[in-house]
Amino acid sequence: MKTGKELTAEEKLRLLCGHGNWHTEDFDGKLERVRMTDASMGIRMPIDPNEWQGERPSIAYPSMQMLANTWNTEVVRKYAECVADDCLDAGADVVLGPGVNIKRDPLCGRNFEYLSEDPYLAGVMGREYISAMQEEGAGTCVKHFCANNSEINRRQQTSDVDERVLREIYYKPFEIACEAKPVSLMCSYNRVNGVRASEYQKGFDVLKKEFGFDGLIISDWDAVRDRTASANAGLGLEMPFCRERYEQLVADYKAGKLSDERLDELAGQVMEFVARCKKLQEGKKRKHTQEERIAFTQKAEEEGIVLLKNNGILPLAKDKKLAVCGWYARPCAYEWNQNPELLSGGGSARVIRLTPMFDMKALLEKEYGEILYEPAFSDDGVNDIFMTPGAAVQNAAGRDVNLVFAGTGARVESEGNDRKSMRLTPAQERTILDTAAVNPNTVVVLFAGAPVDMSAWLDKVAAVVWAGFPGERGGEAIANILTGKVCPSGKLSETFPKTYDGTPTATEYRDSQVTRYQEGLDVGYRYYDRHPEAVQFPFGYGLSYTKFSYGDLNAKTDVERVTIRFEIKNEGTCAGKETAQVYIRPCMPMVYRPVKELKGFVKTEVKAGGSKRAEVVLEKSAFAYWSSAKDCWTVDDGVYEILIGASSQDIRLCAKVRIADGKLEPLN
Ligand code: BGC
Repeated sequence: MKTGKELTAEEKLRLLCGHGNWHTEDFDGKLERVRMTDASMGIRMPIDPNEWQGERPSIAYPSMQMLANTWNTEVVRKYAECVADDCLDAGADVVLGPGVNIKRDPLCGRNFEYLSEDPYLAGVMGREYISAMQEEGAGTCVKHFCANNSEINRRQQTSDVDERVLREIYYKPFEIACEAKPVSLMCSYNRVNGVRASEYQKGFDVLKKEFGFDGLIISDWDAVRDRTASANAGLGLEMPFCRERYEQLVADYKAGKLSDERLDELAGQVMEFVARCKKLQEGKKRKHTQEERIAFTQKAEEEGIVLLKNNGILPLAKDKKLAVCGWYARPCAYEWNQNPELLSGGGSARVIRLTPMFDMKALLEKEYGEILYEPAFSDDGVNDIFMTPGAAVQNAAGRDVNLVFAGTGARVESEGNDRKSMRLTPAQERTILDTAAVNPNTVVVLFAGAPVDMSAWLDKVAAVVWAGFPGERGGEAIANILTGKVCPSGKLSETFPKTYDGTPTATEYRDSQVTRYQEGLDVGYRYYDRHPEAVQFPFGYGLSYTKFSYGDLNAKTDVERVTIRFEIKNEGTCAGKETAQVYIRPCMPMVYRPVKELKGFVKTEVKAGGSKRAEVVLEKSAFAYWSSAKDCWTVDDGVYEILIGASSQDIRLCAKVRIADGKLEPLN
C-alpha cells in the first residue's frame, strides 16, 4: 500500500478528484478506496458504479422529516444503525448524509430530506444519526454546507445572509453535528454571500478551527467550478471525477497556483478519510438482521406520525363500517420496484424499496370487515379526468367513517425543484370536500414531505393524520395509529403555516441569482411567535389519544448550568409518550432576539394514570447569541425565562433565572 509520502505530485492531484461517480481514487488497487452512496433514508446505490441511476433495491425508511417528528434520539440512533447495516450488506463505506439544512421555506423541494426548521433539533438529530452510524461501521457525510435552503436555480443563486444569522441558524446544526466527528462533510451548490460554497474558505475555517471538524470536505456532485480555487479554500475532494477540471488543476499546480503544502494537506485528508472509513468497519458485524430492519421501519413511522386534528373519531371503534378513497390508499396497485418515486420525495434521496407497496384497504379490512374503495383521484393530478369522484362520495355517504388518503410524491417534492404550491391537487381537495359534505366523520391521511395548506378543507373534516413519506412498513404503522393499537406520539419538527402567503419567505427578495434572507433570525417558529395568526399547526405540536399535564417544576442553578426538573402526568386511560420542549426567552434583551429558542427536549413514556419526572440540563451557552459587534458568542446578564411546552405555542411551565456577572443564579 502506498503512503502519502510515496505519492507523486500528480498522483496527489489525482487523489483530490475522485474516481468515477462514487469512489475515491485507488490507482488500480494500490490504495484502498472508499465507495460512497446516497442517502440518509436508506441506500440509493447504482449497481454500475459509473452510473447515477440503476439502483439496487434496498430498505426504504420513513423520510428524515418523519424521523425528526419522533423527537426520539433512540429511534434516530437505531435508524442510523439499520442504514449502516444496509451499507455493510451493499459494500458501501460512506453514506452521503444526513442533510441538516434548515427548512427555511416550506416549498423547498428537499425539505423531506431535512430534519427541522430549528437548528438545535436538526443538529441534535444529525449528531445522533452520525454517531450511531459511524459506531456501526459506516462513515457519514453531513450535508449541504451551507445556506442551501431552496432548489430554485441552486447552482447559481447566492444566499445573502449575515454573519449572526449564519452562526445562530444555518451553521448551528453543522456545529452540533460536528460533535459526533463525521468523517466527511459535503459543500452545497449555491453561493454564500456571493462565494461559491465549494470555495467558501471562511466557512470551512469555521468548521475546522471552531467546530473541531477534522474530516474531509467533499464537493456536492459537480458543485466545483474551479478546482484550484476550491482546493485553495480547503475543499479536499471533488466528486465525481471530471477530467477537464483535473487537467486544469494539474496545469494550475505547474503554474504555481497551488502550493505543495496545500496539496500535501488535502491529499493527506483524502488518505486519512479512507483510513478512517476502513477503521470504522473493523470487526463490525450487522447489528440487526434485514427482517429486523424492515420491522423497524414500522416502529420509526409509528413514532413519527403526527395526529394533527381529532374530534374524537380516532382511534376508530371496532364496529365502524368504513369507506376508503384516494389513490394513496392503494399504491400497491403499482409495480413498486418500477416506481421508486411512489410515496417518496425525488432525486438522490429516493430509495427503490425492497418489499411491495402496502394496501390500506386490505390492512383495514382485517380489522373492520369489508371496505368500499374508490381511487377518486390519481397521484399526480394528470390522470384525474379518468377518475370517478362521484363513486367515492356515494361510498362515503353510506358508511360510518370515510377515510381519504391524499398527498404528494416525487413529482411534486424533489431535489432540483421547489414545489409550486403548498396545496393538494384540485381533485384531492374536491374529494375531501365532497366526501366530508356527505359524511362529517371524514378522516384525512396525508402522505407528503413538507407542510400542506389545509385551509380549504380542514374545518370540514373530523381528523387529520400526518403520515409523511412512510417507508417500507408504513401501511402497518398507519393502520396501528388508526385502530389505536399505537398511541400517536409524533410532534411536528416544523411549523405548518395556514397558507404560503403567511410565511416569512413569501415576500422575500428573490431573483434567479439572489435570495436575500431578509427575515434574518426569524426562521420557522422564531417568525411565527410574532405572527401566530399565520400558523395552522405550530412547531412541536402533535395530539395523542391520551392527555398529559405538567407540574412540579424545579430549576437548580450552579453558575455554569441550570438543571430543570418537572413532572409529566398521563391523565388519560391509555399509555402514551409525551415530548416536552424546553425554550429560553430573554426577558429584556439588549439586542434583537427571537421571542424564544428551543434548547432542550425530552420524550418519555408514561402509563395511564402514571407520572414521570423529566430532567433537562441547560449549559450557560444555551443563553448565548452571536454578537455582531464583538464577533463572538455572548451571554448577556439579565433575566431569562425557561419555558416548558407541549408545543411552541402551548407553554405549560415557566421558571426564571438570572445571569449576573456571567453567573447563572436562581431568581427568588
Ligand atoms: C445531491 C447530493 C447527493 C449527490 C450524489 C447531488 O445532486 O445534492 O445530496 O448526495 O447528488 O447523488
